[in-house]
Amino acid sequence: MKKDIEDRGDIELLVNTFYDQARLNLVIGPVFNEIAKVNWESHLPRMYAFWTSMLLGDHSYTGNPMQKHIELSKLTRLSEVEFLEWLSIFKSTIDQLFEGPKAEEAKTRADNIARLMLHKIHSA
Ligand code: HEM
Repeated sequence: MKKDIEDRGDIELLVNTFYDQARLNLVIGPVFNEIAKVNWESHLPRMYAFWTSMLLGDHSYTGNPMQKHIELSKLTRLSEVEFLEWLSIFKSTIDQLFEGPKAEEAKTRADNIARLMLHKIHSA
């Protein structure tokens, strides 16, 4: 039986494992590597803060992900195809590592945020 997402260490493992896979993905990898040319040293801690705030309620994240992705969608195609790929990697990462109510909550929240982002991108 796997454990649930319980602390900051679990969030770091989730985010690191997700990005190890996302960066290599043929559909969305290039967005990180070639379009945004992500600075991982600053991006990963932001993502730890984002998911800890979402799932563990520590309020450490301050930022505007919607605006970031609207800007990104002006540089590259961010359609349902890319979002479904992102979600598929995210959910399979969770399922590889964790199980329990927080693990389920993470997947539901990602689904809802992705749907909202896609909607905002379409109406931007
Ligand atoms: C097609 C799907 C997606 C792609 C290709 C994508 C890609 C990116 C990229 C390139 C960045 C900017 C990194 C930088 O700072 O240089 C970013 C930031 C971020 N993404 Fe995504 N993303 C996607 C979907 C999502 C979803 C569904 C979520 C949430 C569930 C999410 C959460 C975030 C957050 C929190 C940030 C940090 C924003 C900040 O700087 O405060 N992304 N994403």
